[in-house]
Amino acid sequence: MSFSSPLLVFWISLVLLCQGSQAQLSSTYYDSTCSNVSAIVSNVIQQAQQSDTRIVASLTRLFFHDCFVNGCDGSVLLDNSYSIASEKDALPNNNSLRGFDVVDNIKSAVEDICPGVVSCADILALAAERSVYLAGGPSWEVLLGRRDGTTANPVGATNNLPSPFDDYSTLQSKFSALGLDNTNLATLSGAHTFGRAQCKVFFSRLYNFSGSGYSDPSLSSSYLAYLKQSCPQNGDMTVLNNLDTTTADTFDNSYYTNLQNNEGLLQSDQTLLSASEASIASTVNSYATYQNMFFANFAQSMINMGNIDPLTGTDGEIRTNCRRVNGS
Ligand code: HEM
Ligand SMILES: *[C@@H]1O[C@H](CO)[C@@H](O)[C@H](O)[C@H]1NC(C)=O
Ligand SMILES: *[C@@H]1O[C@H](CO)[C@@H](O)[C@H](O)[C@H]1NC(C)=O
Ligand SMILES: *[C@@H]1O[C@H](CO)[C@@H](O)[C@H](O)[C@H]1NC(C)=O
Repeated sequence: MSFSSPLLVFWISLVLLCQGSQAQLSSTYYDSTCSNVSAIVSNVIQQAQQSDTRIVASLTRLFFHDCFVNGCDGSVLLDNSYSIASEKDALPNNNSLRGFDVVDNIKSAVEDICPGVVSCADILALAAERSVYLAGGPSWEVLLGRRDGTTANPVGATNNLPSPFDDYSTLQSKFSALGLDNTNLATLSGAHTFGRAQCKVFFSRLYNFSGSGYSDPSLSSSYLAYLKQSCPQNGDMTVLNNLDTTTADTFDNSYYTNLQNNEGLLQSDQTLLSASEASIASTVNSYATYQNMFFANFAQSMINMGNIDPLTGTDGEIRTNCRRVNGS
């Protein structure tokens, strides 16, 4: 096999480019320009949490849906306008993503103290870390210095984001396309230790799995009965269910013990344990036993996810309003 040299130059440049942009993110990025940003983010989230326990899950998911589409550039926050086709309307996001109002509140609290300095993309990264921590999970040093994109990518949102109906190899390829490996996949899926899912995203598992006319055989019978009550046939497909049936609002490792008990809510969850790959099953089993191992790997995987194609230097902008490109 031989590479033509322009292709080789292209790959080498790409590698250097990726390393270059990652190297510019830093945990001390705002130390001299907005040293209190993390405390402000934490404060607003804690206030929101008082009336909405679910908000910490929703904010964690927002960061994921941002990073998987055009990189971590705040594109998921842009509303429809004459120049923007919003990602919010894309299939995985419509009537599903939430927390945008809390992001607005964080942004305005930050703008009050240090105007024009902190990007919306970084606010999502900080909010995800504080959310996980406030729900009982690990904390970590968030890498910062991302700038905000000026475009959105609804087609990317539809195509790049994993679907709850994806099988293991599809999930694997969607993650690896962004430089995330199988361990990152098994680890980041552990975010389903908190938050909710609508009946429509797992309904077929209850009544007609893969068109078989039967339920998914990988569901425990007691959990199946429980879910059928919550999501009856011809019922309301938007009814909310806990992703973690054991400790709904706590960030812990019970997502993995649930999988061991055949009580993963989404097909994409349970498939981690039924996947033919032994190494993934063994990761799941380790996390189920050692919560500290899950926590340490989760923190690292969130940092890895946060490194997906950030805009740095003079690329992009610092949005004034997270919903709009500046000057529009
Ligand atoms: C591995 C592939 C994944 C799939 C197929 C997937 C799919 C889903 C689906 C279908 C929902 C429920 C949406 C609804 O019913 O409206 C959901 C919720 C959620 N997802 Fe994922 N997800 C994946 C990975 C992740 C990752 C990597 C994270 C974060 C690191 C994450 C965090 C969450 C959270 C926290 C919720 C609950 C949100 C809330 O209550 O507002 N997910 N996910
Ligand atoms: C930082 O922000 C927090 C939360 O808003 C506030 O309680 C604290 O007084 C601030 N500290 C400084 C040094 O501004
Ligand atoms: C998004 O959901 C709304 C209902 O809330 C619906 O009217 C609209 O057609 C959906 N958008 C897309 C692009 O499917
Ligand atoms: C189950 O799904 C298959 C394929 O989508 C469909 O042909 C069949 O009618 C469905 N059965 C029931 C009972 O809904």
